[in-house]
Amino acid sequence: MCGIIGYTTKKNNSVDVAIAGLKNLEYRGYDSSGIAFNSNEGLTIVKSAGKISNLEEKLSKLSTASNCAIAHTRWATHGEPNETNAHPHRVGKITLVHNGIIENYASLKKELQEKNYEFKTETDTEVATAYIDYCYSLTNNKLQAIVDACKKFRGSYAFNIIYEDEPTTIYATRKDSPLVVGYSDVGNFAASDISAILNYTNRYSLIDEGEFIKITNSVVTFYNKDLQEISSEVKTATWDATQYQKNGFDHFMLKEINEQPKVIQDIFNRYYTNCTYSDIDFSAFDKIHIVACGSAMHAALVGKYLLQTYAKIPAMVEIASEYRYIEELITPKTLLIVVSQSGETADTIAALRLAKEKGAYVIGIVNAVGSTISREVDKCIYTYAGPEIAVATTKGYSSQVAVFSTLALNAMEQKNLLTDEETNNIKNELLNIKDKIDYTLAQANTYLDIANDIYSHNDLFFIGRGIDSAVCMEGSLKLKEISYMHSESYSAGELKHGTISLIEEGTPVIAIATDNSLFEKTVSNVKETKARGSYSIFVTTDEHKDYNFDEFADKTIILPKTNDFAQPILTAIALQSVAYETAKLRNCDIDKPRNLAKSVTVE
Ligand code: F6R
Repeated sequence: MCGIIGYTTKKNNSVDVAIAGLKNLEYRGYDSSGIAFNSNEGLTIVKSAGKISNLEEKLSKLSTASNCAIAHTRWATHGEPNETNAHPHRVGKITLVHNGIIENYASLKKELQEKNYEFKTETDTEVATAYIDYCYSLTNNKLQAIVDACKKFRGSYAFNIIYEDEPTTIYATRKDSPLVVGYSDVGNFAASDISAILNYTNRYSLIDEGEFIKITNSVVTFYNKDLQEISSEVKTATWDATQYQKNGFDHFMLKEINEQPKVIQDIFNRYYTNCTYSDIDFSAFDKIHIVACGSAMHAALVGKYLLQTYAKIPAMVEIASEYRYIEELITPKTLLIVVSQSGETADTIAALRLAKEKGAYVIGIVNAVGSTISREVDKCIYTYAGPEIAVATTKGYSSQVAVFSTLALNAMEQKNLLTDEETNNIKNELLNIKDKIDYTLAQANTYLDIANDIYSHNDLFFIGRGIDSAVCMEGSLKLKEISYMHSESYSAGELKHGTISLIEEGTPVIAIATDNSLFEKTVSNVKETKARGSYSIFVTTDEHKDYNFDEFADKTIILPKTNDFAQPILTAIALQSVAYETAKLRNCDIDKPRNLAKSVTVE
């Protein structure tokens, strides 16, 4: 995690530009931040615990005219998030910022201590800084010192490095953590993500692993590990900076919830006008593994349901960090689908690399264009949901579900499992889904009303069966991560095997029953909780609007009925909205919940 940016310029505004860029990277971590900048007095380092606004406060009291700066926003891994442990770190002639983890830092630290290096912080990054300084003392060659040190580092890193005796040049390299170079007429950048530099330029290059970059205010030079100059493709970003702004919404999360009608409609339109899956031969595989983390894993559970139930293909979902423990199940006949909004999640990357080693074919469902996962998979299916800034995913999740729907439909078509009439019905429904999503969003008062009922409770349960059970898991995660309210998700039939003992007078239970064939059974399960005092919120579709809910439901959410390829999206949007309103009533920091980061680039 962590975000880094470096900027070297012909002007004297590197601090302002670096801080503005850093704010766009705050989603990557926000427990402390810091900056090093060059000025007439030499290299100044300013750090602060907490959000970037605290750092700005400190900087406002200093003279910050500078032509080169490197800055960092942190999600702590080693050492608490205080000022001492914040980046940049400086040892000897080296000052640097780092995103990633140096896993073997303890042994390197010992080696350096024997060479009389002393350490002030608990971080792995200070050790990396010292190691580069040590290598520089041996070679007196700046790039060579970085190459030599990187050979020793195990783990992940993206570095922006400044040498004391060349303070307007930034050296950069990466392994398993993202980093891009940006070019403008007045200066050049190296940043974790294009969003940090889009206000200044849309010209950028991706940095491949094993490349070492020297960046001055006029020239950027790429080298391979043998320090031969190499070329790099300059790309033009098509996103515009307004996509990174709230555009009138109170929070990014609310903005992103409201972007879903278009994002989802676009995916279904794209699929029906130009199906790009013709190169996937589902009959070539004996099984599908779907691997992801967090919400992406919840989208995978919906995908598994669709692939198994409709396309009749056995599918298994595994949490990415657990995938290596079942490696004997991965063969050349395995289709692995990895799912990731950021395309940078370390556990998911490790899983895809393992599967490729084992000869599996790997498809990625990815949002971030050009990300590591998108580049390493055999086939990338982009969700094209646009930048997602709120740490809690919304459109990222629903767009992944929509792509799974299109994959399942494609597999059904390949296997001739659909009649023409069925195809037409599904197509008509999905090509007009925007109206039903709009209708779902328009029930904002219902979501606020329910939030008012639940926000003062400590515990809440989600229950559902079949595909609803998968959506319950996402609803529960959304609520707990942004409102800090404890919640659990259970298959409706499972509650009575233990957990029902937690239900007491007033405990909120959100029960979801959108699948007609499972409706009665879920109703029975809600009644079981009601009999024990639960406050029941029942989520179903307008096909049941005349049902007598009074005997078991205190509140209802009635969603438009659609098919299983889109219903989970409508349900998830309703649950996202309840979570959002609840977090707001609890005065939580909705876009940046405590302890989290958007891009989880450590295992
Ligand atoms: C929750 C959330 C996380 C991510 C997970 C995977 O709202 O956003 O659970 O879904 O960290 O991230 P990606 O999809 O970037 O691999």
